[in-house]
Amino acid sequence: MLRPRVFICRPIAREALDLIAHATETEVWPEALPPSRDTLLEKCREVDGLLTLLTDRVDAALIHASSRLRVISNMAVGYDNIDVPEATKRGIVVGITPGVLTETSADFAFALLIAAARRVVEADRYTRQGSWKTWGPMVLLGQDVHHATLGIIGLGRIGTEMAKRARGFDMRVLYHNRQRRPDLERQTGAEYVELRELLSRSDFVSVHVPLSAETRHLMGAAEFSAMKPTSVLVNTSRGPVVDQKALYEALKERKIFAAAIDVTETEPIPGDDPLLTLDNVIIAPHIASASVPTRRKMAIMAAQNLLAGLRGEVPPNCVNPDALNR
Ligand code: GLV
Repeated sequence: MLRPRVFICRPIAREALDLIAHATETEVWPEALPPSRDTLLEKCREVDGLLTLLTDRVDAALIHASSRLRVISNMAVGYDNIDVPEATKRGIVVGITPGVLTETSADFAFALLIAAARRVVEADRYTRQGSWKTWGPMVLLGQDVHHATLGIIGLGRIGTEMAKRARGFDMRVLYHNRQRRPDLERQTGAEYVELRELLSRSDFVSVHVPLSAETRHLMGAAEFSAMKPTSVLVNTSRGPVVDQKALYEALKERKIFAAAIDVTETEPIPGDDPLLTLDNVIIAPHIASASVPTRRKMAIMAAQNLLAGLRGEVPPNCVNPDALNR
């Protein structure tokens, strides 16, 4: 019997590759940088399954070009890089990797929160550049995390884990979400408030929403103006959820104290982006889920989604099971 053909957009964990190679004719893009759009277009025409990362944009044109594609397995929990409605129309199932990265991502968001509050990255630069001359009563003063108020925008899986971590620091937790979540309020002690109230009351604002037309530039000039001058923004969701020009202005004008972001509007952030000139922002290269065990679990989950889709089944973690009813 003819084995299905798959294209994997980057080298991933060995165990996951072995699972896939056992059942398919597998091609792995060997480079550290993503395949070009032309390469992806060419591969899409040839394969039954595609294993993508969030750097691989699978839009309508690409989906139209792919005559035999049956499954797209995205090794990420976010899937704004894929045109899912178009995939559904063409009967292509789309898989993602939720759950396995939740706590790892929340750990990193909390690490960013503390690092920005206590100026950890700036302090390291200070030491390395030889500025540490003595213990100074006014040197590198930051903001307290303990007993402060954390405002979580988006109380989903990762947002909920943030709330749990905040309790260990005796923080008060506010949240805003499309729907109120009384179950999670009971579980975490978080209090539901409107967005404006969250912004004006919080010492830390952490964003945990998916990117959509509704959430693009959710945080802009008006929102930064509503925040306290001592407050910190943390963004580990998607870059375009924050208006980056407005963030730059807010940080430069000290409308907020600091920001720590793992995602930027364009990734990687261009070398001449003005944010890079500021001391009160930490910019990580989209690594919230980057722990050894979690990336392995994500790769295996992506492999399982891919193989299920190739067998004509709904993948275990599928965002468009309706695709198979077409
Ligand atoms: C990372 O950003 C993911 O969506 O998994």
